[in-house]
Amino acid sequence: MVIERLEPRKSASRTRVRGGGGWLDDGASCKALRLMDRYEPLRHRTIALVGLMGVGKSSVGRRLANALELPFRDADSEVEAAAGRAITEIFSELGEAAFRDGERRVIQRLLDEPPHVLATGGGAFVNDETRALLKSKALVVWLRADLELLARRVGRKDTRPLLKDSDPLTVLKAQSELRYPLYAQAHVVVDTGDTAHHVTVAQVIDALSDYLAKEGS
Ligand code: S3P
Repeated sequence: MVIERLEPRKSASRTRVRGGGGWLDDGASCKALRLMDRYEPLRHRTIALVGLMGVGKSSVGRRLANALELPFRDADSEVEAAAGRAITEIFSELGEAAFRDGERRVIQRLLDEPPHVLATGGGAFVNDETRALLKSKALVVWLRADLELLARRVGRKDTRPLLKDSDPLTVLKAQSELRYPLYAQAHVVVDTGDTAHHVTVAQVIDALSDYLAKEGS
């Protein structure tokens, strides 16, 4: 919800609440305004999206950030910027261990920034140190989807070194066995299908709102 301040009038200034459809006199406290903004509780901590390759962490994350009016960060892009090369090159020239180390350091830095939506790479939450950082400093959302759907999606791109020369479904099945017990440590889980991104965004917002309501009660 976006709150706009209108020009003061002679009698009393008023605040228009777009999306809420109502008018509040100046006497209404900021607290009341905040209570009307159901997204406000979601803006205090970074929201980190975890899950397998192709599940939509970046595309959903970008739209989620937009909906919540938060900045968006993509850990993979930040690692590429820090290393000055593409992820495929980091893997081939420096190796996966160097990538994981860079990924941890980049995520640590991002988690010290003001609250934002953070899309992580599929393996970030598997690393013990990175997972501990994310769990303590962010609200972690596991986006989960059917493996065959993911395999169809990732099969269309060749930018993922872990899929190079491999059958995507075989890789994703193996990753799910190893990673699902770790992803399950996320604060909330959202099952996504082959639906529009805005549907997933709404699911994430509902799941996080429920989680925060329980956490506060
Ligand atoms: C990886 C996933 C990729 C990227 C790297 C490793 C993984 O990110 O970080 O290729 O280990 O699953 P996406 O999940 O955004 O594809």
